Amino acid sequence: MAKASLQAIRDASPAILPSLLLTDFGDLKGELARLEQAGARVLHLDVMDGHFVPNLTYGMPIVEGLRRHTEMPLDVHLMISDPLAYAEPMVKAGADVLTFHVEAVHDPRATAERIAELGVGVGIALNPETPIGSLVDCLPVVDQVLVMSVDAGFGGQKFNPVALEKLRVLRQEYPDLLLEIDGGIDPETIGKARAAGCDLFVVGSAIFRHDDYGVAFKELNAAMTAAEDAEL
Ligand code: DX5
Ligand code: ZN
Repeated sequence: MAKASLQAIRDASPAILPSLLLTDFGDLKGELARLEQAGARVLHLDVMDGHFVPNLTYGMPIVEGLRRHTEMPLDVHLMISDPLAYAEPMVKAGADVLTFHVEAVHDPRATAERIAELGVGVGIALNPETPIGSLVDCLPVVDQVLVMSVDAGFGGQKFNPVALEKLRVLRQEYPDLLLEIDGGIDPETIGKARAAGCDLFVVGSAIFRHDDYGVAFKELNAAMTAAEDAEL
């Protein structure tokens, strides 16, 4: 199921992934319906442990609850100090892709290999100050790279353009890698990220602070498509 979901993510790209950080947790079923109606095809789940990042969100019960009510692939962003301690429970809860931070572990390649053994897609994330050289060892064993355009930990931060150069280099050197960007993505920044070669665009505030998720998706899609047309 999970590897099929990875293919579904590839097929959906370029795609806008709502980040469930600012969602209405009191009405997750309603939120799922509104997001699907707006055009969401993949969900991004931000798991924070209050240790790797100074913020605390949610864990397996929310992932499992969402899994019961949607068929959309669940792209789980682990902002936690010990990703391997929770990898298997996350897969059991229904995660399709598990992304861990290169800054969190001693041996990123071994971590990626252990996650891959669980049968899910593997992603590796890096914060704005972390160079892409830190990924080289594990790129052959990961499915996607999550380039952070803010410091992991909170929604609503300002986009850091250092992410664009990383995307350009990765796109050029690894044409088949799924590239994802996360942080400060809005109708202005999404076009820049698309032009830099990004496939998956994680969006929190620009969707959840909008009165109408459908309109938010339309604005983001239009800006993404305009960037593609400008490339032609
Ligand atoms: C930040 C999270 C993001 C965040 C994005 O640590 O990984 O997914 O929710 O939110 P915005 O779009 O508001 O920057
Ligand atoms: Zn995220």
